[in-house]
Amino acid sequence: MRDVIRKAVFPAAGLGTRFLPATKAQPKEMLPLVDKPIIQYGVEEALASGVDNIILVTGRGKNAIEDHFDVSVELETFLESRGKTDLLNEIRKISNLINVSYVRQGEPLGLGHAVLVTRTLVGNEPFAVILADDVIDATPPALRQMIQVFEELDGPVVAIEEVPPEDVSAYGVIDAEEVRPGVYRIRDLVEKPPRDEAPSNLAIIGRYVLTPDIFPALEETANDRSGEIQLTNGLRRLLKQRPIYGCRVAGVRHDTGNKLGYLRAVVYFALRRPDLAEPFREYLRAIDREAAVRR
Ligand code: UTP
Repeated sequence: MRDVIRKAVFPAAGLGTRFLPATKAQPKEMLPLVDKPIIQYGVEEALASGVDNIILVTGRGKNAIEDHFDVSVELETFLESRGKTDLLNEIRKISNLINVSYVRQGEPLGLGHAVLVTRTLVGNEPFAVILADDVIDATPPALRQMIQVFEELDGPVVAIEEVPPEDVSAYGVIDAEEVRPGVYRIRDLVEKPPRDEAPSNLAIIGRYVLTPDIFPALEETANDRSGEIQLTNGLRRLLKQRPIYGCRVAGVRHDTGNKLGYLRAVVYFALRRPDLAEPFREYLRAIDREAAVRR
């Protein structure tokens, strides 16, 4: 039988230091893009890709995420009594459709470590990893595009985006051969290379389809200089044993983990909302004119 991807891991145990003070008492995954928290975009993408078992890796101070995906009897009773059916359906929809499990990372020892702590929950089957910070608007959904490549080539798949050369040092970067448009066979991968040492400008973005042999590979992966276990380094080790592929995802990605990316995402999603697009576009034009006058 062909392996089916049933589970998606959402690492959400990072400290979100780039968003302090907003993230002092609330997780960055709960910051809204218009009126939906960032992490819900990722969970909806998993669902739309046919994956409904969600494994959330959390840490201290992340209770709001657990509450968000839980049933809220009080709130539901209130909305029901006020006849606010649309809102009621909206908040029920997501918790009814997914099955969520939680595991604590303890200490934020890196993305590779966050994946490693899901080993028991994932078990011996292939699975997806979604970094909710990367919000991708795509049809078919980004993860669905990757699962198609996984089903065809039967090996781990990482999502790839071409980034400007000056940005490569913020990403894992691949050295690869393009086997057909948008699909690469990876020769090597390197985490956050200096610009002049990067093998290409093909950066790994926040989606992975992994096979369970990543777990022993991560276990054997040494901590880097900052004491973290990097997923890229685990994949590099796994590459010695099996082919790994890159899939250039067709869609629009926003990195909401940094301030500018977050602001862009808010504007982008507001402009896609039928109830907000027109007055908001008007407003943007007006502030643009004001800025032009002041210049
Ligand atoms: P980032 O490095 O972008 O997130 O990790 P961060 O550490 O939360 O944010 P800054 O840099 O301090 O602002 C990428 C993803 O991996 C998760 C994060 O939650 C984020 O979704 N992560 C990272 C973990 O779950 N555990 C870790 O130890 C590190």
